[in-house]
Amino acid sequence: MTDGSSKGEEIQRLFDTVPEYYDRMNRIMTLGRHAAWCRDVARRAQVPAGGSLLDIATGTGVIALEAARRYPGATIHGVDFSEGMLAGARTKPGAEAVTWQFADANDLPFADGTFDAVTHGYLLRNVEDAERVLAEQFRVLAPGGRLVILETCPPRGLLRRPVALGVKVVVPLLGQVVAHDRRSYTYLEESTLGFMSPEQVAEILGRLGFVDVAWDRRFLGTHMIVTATKP
Ligand SMILES: C[S@@+](CC[C@H](N)C(=O)[O-])C[C@H]1O[C@@H](n2cnc3c(N)ncnc32)[C@H](O)[C@@H]1O
Repeated sequence: MTDGSSKGEEIQRLFDTVPEYYDRMNRIMTLGRHAAWCRDVARRAQVPAGGSLLDIATGTGVIALEAARRYPGATIHGVDFSEGMLAGARTKPGAEAVTWQFADANDLPFADGTFDAVTHGYLLRNVEDAERVLAEQFRVLAPGGRLVILETCPPRGLLRRPVALGVKVVVPLLGQVVAHDRRSYTYLEESTLGFMSPEQVAEILGRLGFVDVAWDRRFLGTHMIVTATKP
């Protein structure tokens, strides 16, 4: 992905072109598991009654909508820097329960300590500086607030080679056949296999001051759900 623009600009363009196929591709690539992981992310956010949750890189809004269903009295914000993806979120059933807003994860337009929970799915491997983005999340969380991250990651151990080969072959092929967009899904494959392990993400979170950092791997080790708390 290089034509002289910053990584952020390229990612923004990429996601502005994929919303039509985005949910269908996610369902196919994760064999339907993405929706369950988003429910799990919302559950782990543990928003108190009348509290607030910020879902960053909300995309078509799957996590934010799950949170709105799970915590009916809470204030739910879904933000993204792709207007194309946000347009998809705004038309979904239940969308009126969420405040949708344009925002860049590098520079969130919220005061310090605003939210009881922050969530994001598939954001970190798309940003230039993951530590800066996580520091922003620490800033906008209230003391005691929960962070829940869903992300892809490279498989490890005995499964590493066969699973990585599967990801390399299957993901771009599905992108071509289902979304007619091999390039975007080649990027997904490359950014997944080249991304940090849960241990590395946890190390950054610890450095930033988060406590109770924990993680699970999912889907043959190609996905992680990481949770942390702001003290
Ligand atoms: C793969 S989608 C994930 C959408 C959703 N969270 C999900 O789980 O289906 C990644 C999203 O991250 C957004 N994104 C990437 N970098 C961003 C940034 N710096 N600020 C805000 N959104 C960003 C993209 O626009 C895109 O909608």
